[in-house]
Amino acid sequence: MCGIVGYVGKKNACGILIEGLKRLEYRGYDSAGICINHGGKLHISKHTGRVMHLEEEVLGDENIATGTTGIAHTRWATHGEPNQTNAHPHTDDSGRIALVHNGVIENYRTLRQFLIDKGHTFKSETDTEVLVQLIGEFYRDGSRNLEQAVHLALPEVTGTYGIAVTSSDEPDKIVAARKGSPLIIGVGEDEYVVASDAGAIIEHTANVIYLKDNEIAVITSTGLRTATIDNVPVTKEIQQIEWSLDEIALGGFEHFMLKEIFEQGEAVRNSMRGRLDLREMRVQLGGLESVLRELLRTRKIVLIGCGTAWHAGLVGEYLFEDLGRIPTEVEYSSEFRYRNPIVDEGTTVIAISQSGETADTLAALREATDKGALTLGIVNVVGSTVARNTDAGVYLHAGPEIGVASTKAFTCQLAVQTLIALLLGRRRFMSQSTMQGYLEALAEIPEKIESILTESERIKDIASGLIEFDNWLFLGRGYNYPVALEGALKLKEISYIHAEGLPAAEMKHGPIALINENMPVVFLAPRCSTYAKIISNIEEVRARKGRVIAIATQGDEEIRKYCDQVIYVPDCPVPLQPMLTVVPLQLLAYHAALLRGCNVDKPRNLAKSVTVE
Ligand code: F6R
Repeated sequence: MCGIVGYVGKKNACGILIEGLKRLEYRGYDSAGICINHGGKLHISKHTGRVMHLEEEVLGDENIATGTTGIAHTRWATHGEPNQTNAHPHTDDSGRIALVHNGVIENYRTLRQFLIDKGHTFKSETDTEVLVQLIGEFYRDGSRNLEQAVHLALPEVTGTYGIAVTSSDEPDKIVAARKGSPLIIGVGEDEYVVASDAGAIIEHTANVIYLKDNEIAVITSTGLRTATIDNVPVTKEIQQIEWSLDEIALGGFEHFMLKEIFEQGEAVRNSMRGRLDLREMRVQLGGLESVLRELLRTRKIVLIGCGTAWHAGLVGEYLFEDLGRIPTEVEYSSEFRYRNPIVDEGTTVIAISQSGETADTLAALREATDKGALTLGIVNVVGSTVARNTDAGVYLHAGPEIGVASTKAFTCQLAVQTLIALLLGRRRFMSQSTMQGYLEALAEIPEKIESILTESERIKDIASGLIEFDNWLFLGRGYNYPVALEGALKLKEISYIHAEGLPAAEMKHGPIALINENMPVVFLAPRCSTYAKIISNIEEVRARKGRVIAIATQGDEEIRKYCDQVIYVPDCPVPLQPMLTVVPLQLLAYHAALLRGCNVDKPRNLAKSVTVE
């Protein structure tokens, strides 16, 4: 996730900014950059990779080393590859204004065209450059100061931002603003540190001002003014940071895994931002535009992935066949190329991968390319190898996933596949009213995820009653069968409890022999067309004294009769259920692992990215 640091004061800004960037490294990033406003000029340095490389580069630069005002950034790519040109700070055409930005500008294409028509030229592929050029457009005739130009530019922007801007014409000044992306101002003695995260401020001061959405701050070494975007002055209260640096990195959570589970509402929102258009009742996926005609003509989709990403693909199989009416198969990446798959020019192979670097998936992708398939990526890490080696694709925008067990990437993989399936379905056969129903329900998913998270403590209580058992089953049908597999994988990889996931009806073909009073069985039992059959399966387990935990639809009181424990999720159309039903299973695994004393962020024998075949 991108990070912002800015400094205005009497000290050397460079050292403070570099230290600040280092404090933000835990958020994940792919490039870093700094701009010092000194001697009537902006001195900029940007580097891909680690902050230490940027530090080495700027050490010998006297202009960068001596200024007392500056802005800096760690970038986690969303628009455009992670390279030096796309790294922040970005400047306007005149080179007089520099800006760093967190967030996503949704209408950047429209604004970019507007600015090109006005004669601006763009250097990068980022949405951020649009913002600095727009501010530059209002600044260039010299009739306005920096804050006036920012006030005029921001109302034109749709999307989210936290920004810090500086101009070589106005030294010792930073203008900062936020909408949907956090921005904090540390208030020291004759100095201010602006940052997206308290971690970059805490070693300078504990006194902070939290900017709210739609607020702007004009910061100079002698003072600070705050106003709304509509220029109504606002008086801000100075508050105290009470967290340690470690606590800040985790945002108050005990582990990255829990933090990422709790980020899922926002992550799914970001995955759909600018793509789910409720006004026009359509799905817009810029990353697929260049291949859309070919995709609409495709005869078969093959989804490839490993582990959690493969489970997401299994849900995708239901989505693409059910909503898109396209024959779909799912393959383990590791098996795909060894079985001489039938893939040709009429096939679309979609690689699903959080990291975009999984060796098995890359090898499978090469096989698909060699056989002439259209290749697409559903990837979280921008500019990763999968993203570069596919014909087109859709990024997840889930933000960096640091916990080894994949959580928020999974829910976002489901959200993105749903968007693709709806896009194809609507173009091929789906009625406007059916589309409308799905889109409206999809827009409500983030809030529904957040409501499930409030059950975390109850789920912990349920886990505490079950952790003595060493073998668990997870059972589901239809769309929820892959969720059963994912629930079992989460539990085994972080708590080391043996768990198996199965289609519920398969139980009677063998695994039922395992069931006795020592076997917790987790049923995915939300309301759907096979609900009655799931209840019969539950009864089969009860008859053998198994312990039944059900994930059910809110309001289903009846199911309590058959189960030891019920965890409720809100109602939604069946194809969207996995985005909700998986959340209690992630929490169950997390709490079970913790109660068994396991290190959930670093489970034994596992790495975040599996780059060997
Ligand atoms: C499980 C998990 C793994 C990954 C798998 C694929 O929690 O994280 O199963 O899903 O290694 O990784 P990506 O998605 O990076 O290709």
